[in-house]
Amino acid sequence: MESKLMDPFGRVHDYLRISVTDRCNLRCVYCMPEEGMQFEPTERILSYEEITSIVKALAPLGIRKLRLTGGEPLVRKGLDQLIAMLSAIPGIEDIALTTNGIYLAAYADRLKSAGLTRVNISLDSLKPERFARITRGGKVDRVLEGIKASQRAGFQPIKLNVVLMKGVNDDEVEDFLRMTLEAPIDIRFIEYMPIGDSGGNWKSSYLPLEHVLKTCGDKWNYESCGDVYGNGPADSYRIAGAAGTFGLIHPVSSHFCGSCNRLRLTADGNIKPCLYWSDEYNVRPLVGDDKAVQDLFYKALGSKPETHDMVKALKGQQIDGTPTLRHMSQIGG
Ligand code: 5AD
Ligand code: SF4
Repeated sequence: MESKLMDPFGRVHDYLRISVTDRCNLRCVYCMPEEGMQFEPTERILSYEEITSIVKALAPLGIRKLRLTGGEPLVRKGLDQLIAMLSAIPGIEDIALTTNGIYLAAYADRLKSAGLTRVNISLDSLKPERFARITRGGKVDRVLEGIKASQRAGFQPIKLNVVLMKGVNDDEVEDFLRMTLEAPIDIRFIEYMPIGDSGGNWKSSYLPLEHVLKTCGDKWNYESCGDVYGNGPADSYRIAGAAGTFGLIHPVSSHFCGSCNRLRLTADGNIKPCLYWSDEYNVRPLVGDDKAVQDLFYKALGSKPETHDMVKALKGQQIDGTPTLRHMSQIGG
C-alpha cells in the first residue's frame, strides 16, 4: 500500500523517528551542553503504551519504518519491551536503533530477540582520549565491545555514524575506512549540523565531506555502490574488494530535503515535521483517539517546510523563520 502521508511538496512519508528519552549517559559536544541540561521529568515522557498507540494509528496511513533514538535510547528501562510491542503492529516492517553503543554489549541479544532489525552506533573517534573528549567522558572500548556484541547477535550490516569535525577527528578518516575492508560494516560520515546550541563551536568545526573521498582516493580504488537497502540519505561507496561500505551524509553542503520521507516524535510527545525548524505539534493529549492523532500528523505534514536553512546559517545570512531551540539530544538526529 502506498503511504497516505504526502506533504505539499509531494514527498511521501513512511518513516517515523521516535525519541524515547532526552537523557543520555554521554554529553557529546555537538549534541548537548556539558552542564545545565534540564531533563524532562518522567511523567512528561510518553509511555511505551502511548508510543505504541501512536504507531498503531499511523501504520494504516503508511508508516513502515521506525527508528528509536534518544538521547540514548538504552538508558530507558525495558526498551526491548517497546520493540516487541512495536514489532507486533501490522505494517511495521523495520525497527532500527540509533545508540551510542555503551550498553550494547549487555543488550544486543535481547534487542535482536525482541524484533529489532538494525543498529546504528555513534563512534566519532577510535582514540580513547579523543573519544573521551568528544563524548565528555565516554570509554571507546565499551563501544567497540558493543559493536562486536551486535555482530555476534546477528545484526547486519552494522552502521557506524561518524560526525566529522575539522581539527577534531578529520585525521581519522583513513582508520575508519580501513574498518570496512574486513568486516561488513557501513561507516557513515555525517556533516556537523547546527542544531540547538550545544557549545560545540559549529562554524569553526564544520567540514564538508569531500575530504572523505579525497582521503579514500589517495589510498584506495573505490566505487559508488548506488542504493544500499536502508541507507536513507547517504551516498554509498565501496573500496575495491572491501566487505563493508562507507557513506556520506551531507545535510549542510548538499541537502537531501527533496527526498525527505521522515517525521519525528519527541520523547515528550511532539511531532516535528522537520529536524531544523521549531514547528511542533503536541500529540500527547490525543493519544487513544486514533482519528485525532492521524489528523494532527496530517496537519504537521501540511506545514512541513520544503527545506532547512543550514547553508544560510553557515554563511551568517539572515534566516527567515525560527530554527529549533531544542538540542540534538532532545530530537534524536
Ligand atoms: N550534527 C550531525 N550529527 C549529529 N548527531 C548528533 N548531533 C549531531 C549534529 N549536531 C548524530 C549523532 C548520532 C545521531 C543521532 O545524530 O552522531 O549518531
Ligand atoms: Fe548522547 Fe547521542 Fe547526543 Fe552523544 S549524540 S550526547 S551519545 S544522544
